[in-house]
Amino acid sequence: MGYADVYAAAQKDPEGFWMEQAKAIDWVTPPTHALDDSRAPLYEWFTDATVNTCYNAVDRHVENGRADQAAIIYDSPITGTKAQITFAELKDQVASLAGALRDKGVTMGDRVIIYMPMVPEALVAMLACARLGAIHSVVFGGFAAHELAVRIDDATPKAIIAASCGIEPGRIVAYKPLIDGAIDMASHKPDFTVILQRDQQPCDLVPGRDHDWHAVQDGVTPADCVPVPGNHPAYILYTSGTTGAPKGVVRHTAGHLVALNWTMKAIYNVDPGDVFWAASDVGWVVGHSYICYGPLIHGNTTVVFEGKPVGTPDAGTFWRVISEHNVRSFFTAPTAFRAIKREDPQGELIKDYDISCLRALYLAGERADPDTIQWAQRILGVPVYDHWWQTETGWTIAGNPAGIEPLPVKIGSPTVAMPGYDVQILDEAGHPVPPGTLGAIAIKLPLPPGTLPTLWHAEDRFVKSYLTTFPGYYETGDAGMIDEDGYLYIMARTDDVINVAGHRLSTGAMEEILANHPDVAECAVIGVGDALKGQLPMGFVCTNKGTTKTDAEIVADCIRMVREDIGPVAAFKLVAVVDRLPKTRSGKILRATMVKIADSQDFKMPATIDDPAILDEIRTALKPLGYAQD
Ligand code: COA
Ligand code: AMP
Repeated sequence: MGYADVYAAAQKDPEGFWMEQAKAIDWVTPPTHALDDSRAPLYEWFTDATVNTCYNAVDRHVENGRADQAAIIYDSPITGTKAQITFAELKDQVASLAGALRDKGVTMGDRVIIYMPMVPEALVAMLACARLGAIHSVVFGGFAAHELAVRIDDATPKAIIAASCGIEPGRIVAYKPLIDGAIDMASHKPDFTVILQRDQQPCDLVPGRDHDWHAVQDGVTPADCVPVPGNHPAYILYTSGTTGAPKGVVRHTAGHLVALNWTMKAIYNVDPGDVFWAASDVGWVVGHSYICYGPLIHGNTTVVFEGKPVGTPDAGTFWRVISEHNVRSFFTAPTAFRAIKREDPQGELIKDYDISCLRALYLAGERADPDTIQWAQRILGVPVYDHWWQTETGWTIAGNPAGIEPLPVKIGSPTVAMPGYDVQILDEAGHPVPPGTLGAIAIKLPLPPGTLPTLWHAEDRFVKSYLTTFPGYYETGDAGMIDEDGYLYIMARTDDVINVAGHRLSTGAMEEILANHPDVAECAVIGVGDALKGQLPMGFVCTNKGTTKTDAEIVADCIRMVREDIGPVAAFKLVAVVDRLPKTRSGKILRATMVKIADSQDFKMPATIDDPAILDEIRTALKPLGYAQD
């Protein structure tokens, strides 16, 4: 069957289609039906099944002849370490850590926060939670203590599993002070922590609360897999929304297993045993789905890479890893390729490696610009597939179904809707628009298995954020169009979310921080174009009259405050002090117009603007920052 037939089959008979895919999962109690629509427009999948994620990702492969196959290849150019963990070894490690967690009181449904760098133990921690039916919430290492505290208070974890440090080029990031700070800040206090001491910078442990990763496992009885209901939350992953409070995206167990397993062949075109590599971070959804769960569930070897595309040690690192570990399908963000292209425009370094094992490159997380795609096509000599998805969906909404039928690539389009997704372009009134017309991208409900059923303890927010604007649809927050051939084009976000180096950030959250500065009367944060990172946040602040601080001091404060509150990952370094912000007559800040000015794009003067002269002031303030150039 080709793509069109598979897509049509999933549309016509979703029940039959997903029950068929469910056969690839080892159930404790198999599902009798796929979709539960008893609470529509809230939908769940495989609710009457029982199953364990860890069993499917680890144990079953040990039982079915893959015990000695590498489950994880750890390659860390930043520490000079390489290691392999077989499925049998992974099972022992996971069962042992799960035993330790169980002995300290972690049971099914308890939350566990994981705050770890790109080391195999991060996956071991995730899988140990899955083994017990505990709900993990992984927090990206580039987030600061305050962001961690917000997640501790929302998820109310029984435990935190962390490492003593992460390693960034040129500096060690001590995690322990961030964890201690976050626990101090949070109202909820976890019962205990488990800390992986890294040689690069071990940390002090608080007696009675903090436990050493190895010591806590001494003499424990390994834990067995605990069967959980199909709609039991496998994890919570926080992502940026419009306000400072992140959204706790919930992933249910059974749909996650079925959908991810299906994608490994249909989209990534790998067979069990093949090596699959997603160069992302376990703190992001790509890391959840395609560093940890997807490849392991499907019996692939996954690569845990602790390094950067450039500088660890050079722009040839990716090619070395692909060639050395026999990577078949490779997934990363366009930013990473832009970074490599900037360092090695002619692709000289690739000539040092035999990467004939590679069959395709997959790009996601942000817009893939045509230049980058063409460059990657040229130097790699394999298909480059852009694909579009979100933390909320957990897997591809639109992509190229390479394992079913590779479709012709149209540069600028992530290709077509995947089976289970009825993607439509709607006008403001919620009516579908003709092909080629720009509009809001929405997905007709129900969403397929593996996508978010709700937000953690925030069903109202879930309904309000995603299901209300267009009744009967899921609102993606992206705008775009579909062409005559059914190819989708993603043009822009319709909300205040920006995308910095493939990292999703909220400008609203940054505004909330700047507004707390005692000398800031008013502020706005926008996303401006950046050749490397796609977008960068830029702040505009109006200072209070009579402040004793200089503009430069206030700018420095703002940069420090965002770094301290959100973290270095925000990459917030551009701030302009202005007298006034451009607004409509009703007082709404004209952020979209400011973006156009910064990016030197043509724009139509907003009819509702209060005072057009302010735009010249904005232009003047932007020039020293390297923006609004003529
Ligand atoms: N822990 C602590 N700090 C981190 C971190 C982590 N896990 N990840 C990033 N940071 C820090 C960086 O050190 C940097 O700090 P600095 O301001 O002191 O320099 C800051 O956060 C911004 O990091 P980043 O956006 O990664 O920029 P960079 O300049 O260090 O690197 C790239 C640029 C393009 C090499 C890098 O962004 C990259 O590899 N991107 C790929 C994106 C990706 O994998 N996205 C996942 C979605 S698929
Ligand atoms: P995240 O939840 O961090 O994965 O971010 C999801 C958002 O990133 C989407 O809503 C898009 O705005 C953007 N995005 C992800 N993949 C793509 C892509 N292939 N093309 C364009 N934008 C993308």
